[in-house]
Formats: sequence, C-alpha cells, structure tokens
Amino acid sequence: MIEAGVRAARVPPFHAMAMSRLAEEHEAEGRRVLHLEVGQPSTGLPTGARRAVEAALDRPLGYTNAPGIAALRRRLAERYDGVDPERVTVVSGASAGFTLAFLGLFDAGARVGVLEPGYPCYRNTLLALGMQPVPIPVGPATRWAPTPDLVDAAGPLDGLIIASPSNPTGTILRADALAALAEACRRSGIAVIADEIYHGIAAEPAPRILDHEPDAVVVNSFSKYYSMTGWRVGWMVVPDSLVDVIERLQQNLFICAPHVSQVAALAALDDTDELDGHVARYLTNRSILIEGLGAAGITDVAPADGAFYVYAHVPQLTSALGIDSMALCRRWLDELGVCATPGIDFDLARGHEYVRFSSAGSTDTMTEAVELLAGWRP
Ligand SMILES: Cc1ncc(COP(=O)(O)O)c(C=O)c1O
Repeated sequence: MIEAGVRAARVPPFHAMAMSRLAEEHEAEGRRVLHLEVGQPSTGLPTGARRAVEAALDRPLGYTNAPGIAALRRRLAERYDGVDPERVTVVSGASAGFTLAFLGLFDAGARVGVLEPGYPCYRNTLLALGMQPVPIPVGPATRWAPTPDLVDAAGPLDGLIIASPSNPTGTILRADALAALAEACRRSGIAVIADEIYHGIAAEPAPRILDHEPDAVVVNSFSKYYSMTGWRVGWMVVPDSLVDVIERLQQNLFICAPHVSQVAALAALDDTDELDGHVARYLTNRSILIEGLGAAGITDVAPADGAFYVYAHVPQLTSALGIDSMALCRRWLDELGVCATPGIDFDLARGHEYVRFSSAGSTDTMTEAVELLAGWRP
C-alpha cells in the first residue's frame, strides 16, 4: 500500500470544514441546518464583478503573468501609501498567499509564532511545509491580542503571524498595539506576516501593519469583504527584497491566480456600496447573536470588534455535560439543526471549552438559531 509522507500524515484536519461536511450530510437526509459554522458570506459575487465576468467569457481566458494583471495590481497598490505595484502579487486566495509567504521568508525548521486561538491553517500550513509553529496563547487579559511580552515569552522566533480583525475572536489590534509589536519584532529580527483578510468588516477601519512596519508581508483576499470565497483570489504585498523570490515561487507553484477571478476582483473593487451593505448586516447579526447567546446563558464572549465571528466560552455546558466543544457542536447539529464550529480548531489547549459562531449568514438564521439555543434542554 502506498502511504502518505510522514509530515503530511501529521497535518490535522480543519474542523470547521469537517462540521460543514456533517451539516451537508444532514441536509442530504432532508434535514434543515442553520449554518453558523461557515466563515463565508451567504451572498454571491457583487453586481459589477458579475457583469465583468460575463463580458470576459467572450474572450480567451488564459494564464496571466505570474504576479497578476497589471490594472488589478495597480489598484491594489493604491490602497497602501507609497507601495509600488511591483510589490503586489495576486494570489489564489489568502491560503496560497500564506504558502508563498512562508516559503519566501523561511527555511524548513523555522520557528514561527502563531496565536492561540487563531486561524488553524497558519499552524497546519507551517507543519505541512516542515516549519515549526510556536503557539502564543492570548486571552481576555490582553483582549485576546498579542503583546511584545507574549512574543518574547515564546522564545526565539523567525516569524510572527498576526491577524486583525482576528478569526475567531474578532479582536482588532489598535494602532499603538501594532506599533509596539512591530517595534519588538524589528528589534529581534522577527519577520511579520499580517493577515488583513477581515479588513473592511468592522464598524471602524482596522489599522494596517504597513503603517507601522514597512517590511511586513501583508496577505489579504477577496474572499470575505468582497464575498468571493469560491473565486479563490487574494493578494499579497511584500517588501522589495522579496519581490523576485515571490514571483519565482508563484510561477512554479501556481503559475498565476485564476484569470477570470482576477477580472472579477478588479471590478469588485468598485462594488463597495453593495459590499458595505453586507457589512451592515454582519454588524446587525453580531448584535443579535451576542444578545441571543446571552439569553441562552452564553455570556462570556471575546470582543468581536470585527470579522464575522463570536467566540464564546461555554464551560458551563461542556463541563456539565462532560463533553468537549466538538461533541457539543455535534449535539446542537443533531438536536437543533444549529451548526457552529468547535474551538479546538483554533486553540489546541483551551478550545475544548469554546465555540465559534459565524454571523455571516442571514439575519433570520441568527434570530432562529439563538432562539433554538435558548430553548435547548440537554
Ligand atoms: C483569518 C483567515 N485567513 C485566511 C482565510 C482563507 O482565505 P482565502 O479564502 O482567501 O484563502 C480564512 C478563511 O476562513 C481566514 O479566516
């Protein structure tokens, strides 16, 4: 029998996707599911992007050059003061951006700080690439934000991944917090990778890393604010010193991001009125969720400053029932048709007592889900 490589065999699953799959099985059996597990908008491609795609289908859509179509790179560069479009690469979603960033910056064995709780694919991608994720636990004491002291406590690091607004806690790193982290990393020679995928999904704009650390690598995407998860398109901004290496990696690993998605992305940049409407709904949903969870006795939640998640501490349920958050989510799915994501995805040490709810769905979904949770008698 052919066996998987040892390193690949050790890569853990992404449990949110596993919950979505369970939910799909329920739906295939004819049962109704309220989806609060998914980190994706329930809306489709914005209108201008749809029109651009329709028009593009009349011409051949081949490879683009590796860093992406020039007009898109130029528009993306304009978002950052003084960034040369040469520093922008269009990628196949933020996920591909992480692979390129990690390979561009680090060698096998590199120690890279990842926050716990945090988006699990940072850790799992580093593992797949033979690098060493170093967990940096954050919690309520620092509003779930990393601090220079917490980074120091992790020991020597080659890199640090930060995300603001964060998945799963929604924490936004304020400008002073970003500046302090940037300064600490510069002092210790730690490369900063900033995942800014949830920028635009908050009541206030989130501060940007490049305003504090010009040499940081930024990864962003059209998946969330632009409502384009399935189009697999994002971008990264790298310092001048990495431009060549990222282009060579992109040529060899991915060739280019999908051409049709780049066309859609360029047009979506002008669809902000429609997209801001989605953000307004996420904010309404977040309030309904937080209030409704409170009525269901779930009151200990992380800040939820931005992104579309509410990360809740539920030890009163997991301890009372003698189960972990994975089993709790399965019971909610089986008994209520409410699908949420267990915290073990985001935090190996404490996640068994946490659950993440996504407010990206419809407002009716939120209202109905919290009513069901409030009425649940295990
Ligand atoms: C924090 C974070 N970064 C990156 C991604 C993946 O982004 P993409 O769809 O652009 O690959 C996700 C998806 O949920 C995410 O939550």
